[in-house]
Amino acid sequence: MAPPPEILARDADDPLGRLRERFHLPDGLIYLDGNSLGPAPLSVFDELQKAIAGEWAGDLIASWNKAGWFALPQTLGARLAPLIGAGADEVLVCDTVSINLFKCLHAALALRPERHAIVAEQAGFPTDLYIASGVGSTRSDLALRLQGRDGDTLEELIDGDTAVVLVNHVDYRTSALRDMAALTARAHQAGALILWDLCHSAGVMPIALDECGADFAVGCSYKYLNGGPGAPGFLHVARGHHGGLSQPLTGWWSHADPFAFSPDYVAAPGIAAMLTGTQPILSMRAIVAALDAFDGVDMAAVRAKSMALTELFIALVEERCAGAELELAAPREATRRGSQVSFRHEQGYAVMQALIARGVVGDFRAPDILRFGFAPLYIGFADVWNAVEVLRNVLETQAWRDFAYARRSGVT
Ligand SMILES: Cc1ncc(COP(=O)(O)O)c(C=O)c1O
Repeated sequence: MAPPPEILARDADDPLGRLRERFHLPDGLIYLDGNSLGPAPLSVFDELQKAIAGEWAGDLIASWNKAGWFALPQTLGARLAPLIGAGADEVLVCDTVSINLFKCLHAALALRPERHAIVAEQAGFPTDLYIASGVGSTRSDLALRLQGRDGDTLEELIDGDTAVVLVNHVDYRTSALRDMAALTARAHQAGALILWDLCHSAGVMPIALDECGADFAVGCSYKYLNGGPGAPGFLHVARGHHGGLSQPLTGWWSHADPFAFSPDYVAAPGIAAMLTGTQPILSMRAIVAALDAFDGVDMAAVRAKSMALTELFIALVEERCAGAELELAAPREATRRGSQVSFRHEQGYAVMQALIARGVVGDFRAPDILRFGFAPLYIGFADVWNAVEVLRNVLETQAWRDFAYARRSGVT
């Protein structure tokens, strides 16, 4: 069934509708997995060609200076900063989210040496938990207190011994969105610092790190920022903490004078102290072009459309797939949810494989979560309608029962 006129009218009236032209999206595909890997922005093809043919092949080593390769963590950080509400000198694009978490947690602990606890979420993205445990294993006096294991809420776990609270802005499974201002204030009230993981919010909603007084943040550039598979992450440190930043991965890129090649380590002033070593320049160049896709984009309008898309998806699924044993796993209230909608289904993996085979691409998270991401830069209201139509068909015909859909791939 084709989308009704009122749905088509919403796309026709959408002020962000033309942004889809900035991306390469395969014909016939409804791509609802930008919460995992964003599609290729068209500008990336030229940018990489320039970086490979002109700079690497042509200018070779001169490009570290001439093309600004060495300064890319800072220059890209400055370009990304407005999207997360930070100052240009407060953000670096470098390394992976996991490595940046490690460095930021250590830097936060060094700023609160008299305190002995990290507060985090048991159900947070596993790398956050694993890295927090890894940091804990380097110090015998450090405790990890987890929401979901040691208490029901983060707030009740924060006390005078808490050095840092590590928290996901948007939950990767359920899409629950935290109140950044309130939780940051709660941490500060107890004298603790806070480190936000923005992987599932950067690029899809306005974020106000500085306004909220956040201390640290990390995030990735391959989801809603569309930087490409394995693109480096970013880290943020509030300016007030820049003097005397200390982290243990003291590679030469974090030295005050890296080309002095001194045997003695002296940390760079400012946020450069959070760097480590040589960065993947070609991947960083893809991010340069990916950020161009945000030029002139009003993030408040992005958020408004994101809420409208997810609202429509939930309403249509509940209306048209009623009785299909789908259970909403995302918050019902749009203001409390990210740009993803999650539903539980006992056979969620097979259902998602059947959807993908029919051109509706989302993903699956164990044990039973179907995730659908709605990136307002390239997803429209008719896409939502059509995706629900395919879902209805898969559930009604039980097409997911085909054995082929039960076979698990490594990446789900
Ligand atoms: C919330 C969150 N944090 C961290 C990561 C992963 O970090 P890394 O780039 O180190 O693999 C992800 C990846 O999906 C994520 O969703």
